[in-house]
Amino acid sequence: MRKSVFRKPAVITAAAAILLGLPCLGSAYMERPGDIIETSCGPDNATAKSILIAYDTKHGATATIAEKISETLCQQGFRVDVRMARNVDDIAGYDAVIAGSPIYNFYWLPEGLFFLFKHQEELAERPLFLFITCTYLKDENDTPERRAGAVDLYIKPLLGLLPGLEPLDIGILSGEFSYAELYPYERFRMILSGFPEGDFRNGDKIAAWAESIAEHLQ
Ligand SMILES: Cc1cc2nc3c(=O)[nH]c(=O)nc-3n(C[C@H](O)[C@H](O)[C@H](O)COP(=O)(O)O)c2cc1C
Repeated sequence: MRKSVFRKPAVITAAAAILLGLPCLGSAYMERPGDIIETSCGPDNATAKSILIAYDTKHGATATIAEKISETLCQQGFRVDVRMARNVDDIAGYDAVIAGSPIYNFYWLPEGLFFLFKHQEELAERPLFLFITCTYLKDENDTPERRAGAVDLYIKPLLGLLPGLEPLDIGILSGEFSYAELYPYERFRMILSGFPEGDFRNGDKIAAWAESIAEHLQ
């Protein structure tokens, strides 16, 4: 009797590697240089509170949202640095930190996560705010129930791994993606899951969340 190929260990190992590897490829870190925003704004005096916004991005939407948050906070009199999370070595000079990542396949991007783990002890000692960008709340889906659901899905499991981190507020902000800018695997995945592309960013909601941070810190 002929043996099925699926009984051969090498075939099984190769199939498992492909199946496990494909999603990783789709989530791999591949932002384009033009998608990175790093800015500083706010009054040039030492008495103004300083805030770091550390974010990760893959296709740039989260960078624009981080910048929008910074603009609102600077108008409120704070000094704000916006940085890619991986470019932050030291957070000692900041009075507060805002950390954010887009959600890809239910998870934060690796460098956003790494930032939280790397600075966990110092983050636990200062006001911390977290935000995610996603499409979970787009348009008519933005209900209190869905917001609570997003916190359960995307934030609580993360905080379970980071004891001591107690964010004062969590921003669930709608992001953006277009098929044209996606990598082939991502496009394939999103088309398969029937996910409509679109720009769901909402400047008023982003500014409102930033204003609530300002109230916490004043
Ligand atoms: C491949 C892929 C997977 C995604 N997975 C999720 C997800 O699990 N949940 C969600 O709410 N949004 C998901 N999104 C939407 C992104 O979070 C959203 O487009 C985000 O704004 C992208 O941010 P960026 O441009 O900064 O990378 C996904 C988008 C893509 C392209």
